[in-house]
Amino acid sequence: MNEHDSENIAGMLESMGYVLADDPFKAEVVVLNTCSVREHADKRFYGMLGQFKKRRDENKDTRIVCVCGCMPQQPRVQDEIKKSFSWVDVVFGTQTIGDFPRLLNDRISTGKKQFSITANNSIVPDEKESKRLHKHKALVNITYGCNNFCTYCIVPYTRGRERSRKPSDIIAEIESLVKNGTKEVTLLGQNVNSYGKTLEEDQRISFAQLLRQVNKIEGLERIRFMTSHPKDISDDVICAMRDCDKVCEFLHLPFQAGSSSLLKKMNRHYTKEDYLDIIEKAKREIPDLAFSTDIMIGFPGETDQDVEDTIDICEQVRYDSAFTFIYSKRRGTPAAKMLDQIPEDVKHERFERVLEVVNRISGEKNAEYMGKTLEVLVEGTSKKNEAVLTGKSRHNKTVNFTGGDKSMIGKLVQVKITDPKSFSLNGELVKYIL
Ligand code: 5AD
Ligand code: SF4
Repeated sequence: MNEHDSENIAGMLESMGYVLADDPFKAEVVVLNTCSVREHADKRFYGMLGQFKKRRDENKDTRIVCVCGCMPQQPRVQDEIKKSFSWVDVVFGTQTIGDFPRLLNDRISTGKKQFSITANNSIVPDEKESKRLHKHKALVNITYGCNNFCTYCIVPYTRGRERSRKPSDIIAEIESLVKNGTKEVTLLGQNVNSYGKTLEEDQRISFAQLLRQVNKIEGLERIRFMTSHPKDISDDVICAMRDCDKVCEFLHLPFQAGSSSLLKKMNRHYTKEDYLDIIEKAKREIPDLAFSTDIMIGFPGETDQDVEDTIDICEQVRYDSAFTFIYSKRRGTPAAKMLDQIPEDVKHERFERVLEVVNRISGEKNAEYMGKTLEVLVEGTSKKNEAVLTGKSRHNKTVNFTGGDKSMIGKLVQVKITDPKSFSLNGELVKYIL
């Protein structure tokens, strides 16, 4: 979501005549798009901001520093910016991205600092000017905000209430992307499965229906989506995944924790059994489905038995990949006030224990691809070796392969896997499809 916001901001700057700098420290205008999901991102922001201030004060290339995203969306940070970072030129939030060009122009023409944060939860931004980081794959917002209030999470406070984009706008955006060479779209939302709830009755469709409509777009090759919330993923969505040939065989379904009592404390609205039932259904309908997830370790009150439940889910589902997070206290969320916080050393020990299982299973899943031929959307050359191309399979595996050339970037090719690694697959080009 954050990456796509950055694309939108870059698109606006390009329309204003700016060009992207290779090195942020050489840029005249710097936009720091912040994240506040975990404390680590907070800390990095303050560190970066200090570095840009130094450059601006020393009259090195940096002239204007802008701050946006989730951090200034929090009242505490707004006070901090006003008190300690009043030198920042332009501040805007997640819901005022559209104001950015005006704010920047006003800063330049009046010399006055600009500050625009609003908690107007009803805004559905206009995405027309988005600049895409990649030509062949694109992120497309379908919902904004979140209504779930998981007790650890800051997002509902920074991104506001959930609202859906009109299906006609989504389809039009994807059609125009496809005309410009996009082969793969990822439909984005904090909880894509609740898509449609805020739409006017005459245009209300469900996420499953949206998938079926997007699947009809000619020239589009692949559809992905994230994130799905287990409490809202319906049988209809699983059937749509099964029926739509463009929807990739890949499901990102965060479970956070295996213990049903911890899930209740997190306000997730499903139990371990509910979650495993969904996985079983999905595996039954789509036999070749790859899974990924988000796992949180060290939520307040977590016991060793709870960690065993988390490990048990990993062993039962057998994820192809997983994002593992150590719980990080976010001020203003209910979990931050819970008294049974877990000591840092215990969190780290548990984290390592879970990570070992996750990594072992990822390696085992990858090994199953030995000798198989996969369709790969070529994204570029490998960072380490220009003669090696890299791309993604429909199962979202990173595939590095030899035997191709740069003209294949953006195309779909067939690759035979000859050397599966723990986090990627190596192979050789088999057949080149125009
Ligand atoms: N601490 C650690 N991880 C968090 N996430 C969200 N909030 C927190 C937090 N306070 C993780 C969840 C979510 C992912 C995007 O970030 O696992 O699914
Ligand atoms: Fe945060 Fe929960 Fe919403 Fe995801 S569903 S953004 S974890 S509140």
